[in-house]
Amino acid sequence: MVKIYKVTMRADIVTIFPGFFRGPLEHGITRRACEMGLAQIKIHDLREFTHDRHRTVDDRPFGGGEGMVLKPEPLFECLESLALAAREDRAARRVRQSVVLLSAQGARLNQALAAELAALDRLVLICGRYEGVDERVADFIADREVSIGDYVLSGGEIAAAVIIEAVTRLLPGALGNEASARQESFTAHEVVAASGPDSTCGSGGLLDYPHYTRPADFRGMKVPEVLISGNHDEIRRWRRERALKKTLRNRPDLLQSVPLSAEDTRTLRRLKETEQDS
Ligand code: ADE
Repeated sequence: MVKIYKVTMRADIVTIFPGFFRGPLEHGITRRACEMGLAQIKIHDLREFTHDRHRTVDDRPFGGGEGMVLKPEPLFECLESLALAAREDRAARRVRQSVVLLSAQGARLNQALAAELAALDRLVLICGRYEGVDERVADFIADREVSIGDYVLSGGEIAAAVIIEAVTRLLPGALGNEASARQESFTAHEVVAASGPDSTCGSGGLLDYPHYTRPADFRGMKVPEVLISGNHDEIRRWRRERALKKTLRNRPDLLQSVPLSAEDTRTLRRLKETEQDS
């Protein structure tokens, strides 16, 4: 049976490197979501909104200092050409639109924010560049600033591609098996809560448990016995323990906000003790 989904999101990306997005948009789920009409993604070349011979998009910063700053005029003109709802209406969430400025000074992207953006009808991503963007863009046209992590990139293009990927895969119908979006790490707690913290469906805000496939013995590296046992209760317990172990090792901060069962707490105590011993 062919399922029909309506166009759920239009995304506009504003950049001085329009060619950059050819790769990210032409592969995988993003491509499929566009082909299925779930997403429509338009790239806007900022230089097309300049009026001088050199198509200048940047200038020196007032007050001195290193580097160049993206000028406000092309960005304002580009955004005006997109016919968005008024900023007050966007801020008050009277319309499902958001203008996001990608910058290292932004709020950090996480799965909850990706889900919030995936619920919009219209998402605009402005790729910052050089040492900065004239602050009037953040003050008067963007609804929020978003960073993809605590490191500095030369511009927002990679960050925009990350957001597009994180968001499009959440659009209803984008993943062949919708359950797989739910089962992964960083899924919102409420989704997991619906299936219970002990359920095999989802790691409940923990990092994901390890996955294995055939062959069961690869060059002497064996798949954990329990996964071949067929004992689903044991498998569920093993997966939960391994998710806890990986989270404890790689992202202990997540353990502060994850609902833990009494069994989880016991497991964590044991894992911490064995970690100390090793
Ligand atoms: N531009 C420069 N660094 C960035 C970051 N970490 N996230 C988003 N945009 C950026």
